[in-house]
Amino acid sequence: MIVIALYNLKGGVGKTASCVNFAYLAAKDGYKTLLWDIDPQGSTTFYYNVKPKNAMGIKKLISKDVVLESAILATEYDNLEIIPADNSAKSFDIMVEEMKGNKTRLKGILKQLENEYDFVFIDCPPGFSALSENIFAAADIVLMPIIPTTLSIRTYDMVKDYFKEKDLDGSKMMCFFTLVDLRKNMHNEIMEKLYKDKKFFQNYIPALSDVERMGIYRKPIEEYARSSYAAKCYSDLWTEIKEGVVE
Ligand SMILES: Nc1ncnc2c1ncn2[C@@H]1O[C@H](COP(=O)(O)OP(=O)(O)O)[C@@H](O)[C@H]1O
Ligand SMILES: [Mg+2]
Repeated sequence: MIVIALYNLKGGVGKTASCVNFAYLAAKDGYKTLLWDIDPQGSTTFYYNVKPKNAMGIKKLISKDVVLESAILATEYDNLEIIPADNSAKSFDIMVEEMKGNKTRLKGILKQLENEYDFVFIDCPPGFSALSENIFAAADIVLMPIIPTTLSIRTYDMVKDYFKEKDLDGSKMMCFFTLVDLRKNMHNEIMEKLYKDKKFFQNYIPALSDVERMGIYRKPIEEYARSSYAAKCYSDLWTEIKEGVVE
């Protein structure tokens, strides 16, 4: 089982859009895939058109003697199941509270699923917290979408520093560019510079209206724009990621 967390300190960088599409593509490849929407905004849950759990859902999920399977729902796609977001702020606080002082709580929860899935994708909220620390410990790959702008590079450096400061395994951190606009000099310059850093996948996701349209169709891109450039970009990037992680 490979755990991939879509994370960035920053919001609005394409974590959810990417998580929704990578999980779909992994499932389509035949991998047994679980998508865990741990962001209380519940955008992944929205895109997959499943109902958020009520407050009891997440409480059950984190209390000691939980049967994790009870939180998992089917999607309309083969090989793809989901733990929907819990949209109550209170139960999110309870979860984060429980993770304080226990960096491996999430890792322990996921261990129960080790023989059930090939891939687990986690759609993370932005920011540093007890939750993000748990995510960094539980994930095999902390996959960061990065927009090639100055502020994004700053947050990228902050995450790298955070990994060092907390003595986390920096090799887990891998990145790709999103919302790229090659007409902008700044995007070209920043990408050229950061590609020298071995943490970046070569394939990237341009800013494309077909990605934005996910909100209208509430489906992964391939389901409504199979032959689009956006679908090709996600597919090529997923292939590159997969080749990097599956032995
Ligand atoms: N490649 C893209 N091209 C155009 N719009 C995008 C792209 N990726 C994401 N978006 C849009 O940008 C916004 C933020 O994306 P989202 O995936 O929700 O980011 P995050 O989860 O990091 O907050 C959404 O409105 C989404 O539709
Ligand atoms: Mg999101």
